[in-house]
Amino acid sequence: MNKIGLFFGPIGGSTHKAGQIIAKALGNENVDLIPVKEASVETLKKYDSIIFGISTLGRETWDGIHTKNDWDLFMPIIEESDFSSKKVAIYGLGDSVTYAMSFVDHMGILAEKLENAHANLIGAVATDGYSFEESKAMQNGKFVGLPLDEDFEDYLTQERVDRWVAMIKPILLG
Ligand SMILES: Cc1cc2nc3c(=O)[nH]c(=O)nc-3n(C[C@H](O)[C@H](O)[C@H](O)COP(=O)(O)O)c2cc1C
Repeated sequence: MNKIGLFFGPIGGSTHKAGQIIAKALGNENVDLIPVKEASVETLKKYDSIIFGISTLGRETWDGIHTKNDWDLFMPIIEESDFSSKKVAIYGLGDSVTYAMSFVDHMGILAEKLENAHANLIGAVATDGYSFEESKAMQNGKFVGLPLDEDFEDYLTQERVDRWVAMIKPILLG
């Protein structure tokens, strides 16, 4: 059976922690947890089933105004890859209180880049139970992936993950 490649960034924060929770829910034996910082086109090619984890940290994440972060460096690799034969799911870390107007925006921006690279995205999540104003991560009234808020709603993370994993696990491992 092929393993799931769970690619996340940055290392050491909430996105990393959520990756570990998701991997555990999927069964650690089914998942390789890989920081995007350490991944290449070749690493991506090894996996037919992929989960990407990203946080939303403001414009500098994308414009590279400050130091280049993990996702700045990895995004060109996404753009030059072809995901048409792969199953891809995304989770995104955000803060629905302080950043209610841009909640998990980068999950949406990543989804757009993946779709341009012919990804077949799975694991869209209904907005029920989330309070926010605006999000670029919305498509057809749903989130393109799983939003998690470790800043204000960490007590909801486990049940959100469990529900999402129940949805995506049979597809990713099928
Ligand atoms: C400078 C900065 C900007 C942020 N901007 C947003 C934002 O626009 N939307 C959002 O949902 N969360 C935003 N957040 C919250 C982070 O996404 C959240 O704290 C997340 O858990 C960080 O994950 P990490 O520790 O893996 O980087 C921002 C946080 C910081 C520090």
